Amino acid sequence: MNFANRDILSIKDFSRQELLDLLDVAEEFEKNGQKYRELLKGSILATLFFEPSTRTRFSFQAAMLRLGGQFISLTSVNTTSLSKGETLQDTIRIIEGYCDVIAVRHPDVGSAKLVADVSSKPVINCGDGAHEHPTQTFTDLYTIKKAFGRLDGLTIGFLGDLKYGRTVHSLAFALSHFKPKIYFISPESLRMPQEYLDELKSRGVSYEEESDLLKVSRELDVLYVTRIQKERFIDPEDYAKVKGIYQLKADFLSHAKNELKILHPLPRVDEIDPELDNYPQSIYFQQAHNGLFMREALLALVLGKIYKK
Ligand code: CP
Repeated sequence: MNFANRDILSIKDFSRQELLDLLDVAEEFEKNGQKYRELLKGSILATLFFEPSTRTRFSFQAAMLRLGGQFISLTSVNTTSLSKGETLQDTIRIIEGYCDVIAVRHPDVGSAKLVADVSSKPVINCGDGAHEHPTQTFTDLYTIKKAFGRLDGLTIGFLGDLKYGRTVHSLAFALSHFKPKIYFISPESLRMPQEYLDELKSRGVSYEEESDLLKVSRELDVLYVTRIQKERFIDPEDYAKVKGIYQLKADFLSHAKNELKILHPLPRVDEIDPELDNYPQSIYFQQAHNGLFMREALLALVLGKIYKK
């Protein structure tokens, strides 16, 4: 695989082998991180976040620091000349001169591609509106492989906001390389967009749509829970109709396999009760921590400092 100078925009740009190679590199950073403490010395990451973030932004920044590099960061339009009317394109033309790689999150679908079209430095999509979140997916795959020792042939349930859930969209496409059985579990108004379902079908993915989690829960190896994202709704009344619709508590585990693993990209609101946190099935905090190793791997690869045949 060759990731050097590559934009990371969509999960669809990655083959099965590339995904597996990426997981191997992340595993190397998890196991032998101390060997790489100066790997990115002299390199600068720009984190440009036009939407709030805890995990993605901090894990990218921490990854850069742990590998000996540095970062510059934008977290508010108000502190930049964007607030004076400068375009995003011009902003990128300036910032690319100050850094070696750009990690961007923006509310508009397609915004990461727009940034990549302007930037000569590699651009990493950290979430473009309701579209995709590929680095979360790499982290999710790493977490699932660590838990099961494999990615192939698992039964996955996606629960919650499948319409606007960019992490769901990216992970479903990534799983299409690994012969999954997928249950998309949501209220009618938050179903997986039809064009994504059509594409998954054309990739040979076996899926079913459901609204009642308990009807399918015993079949699941992985339950991927998502937050109903208030900020994505145009009409507050539509949000009010689905707010709090799924709330997992510890008694849910009696309706599932003992081997079930519960993932969540986080943040959560009320969809997973904290009483579930201490059960071995709940691996969402490990999932968030795995993001550090995955982002170390991504930065090292796109900056051409580590190679995998
Ligand atoms: N999972 C995720 O993207 O979390 P943040 O929004 O906190 O970055």
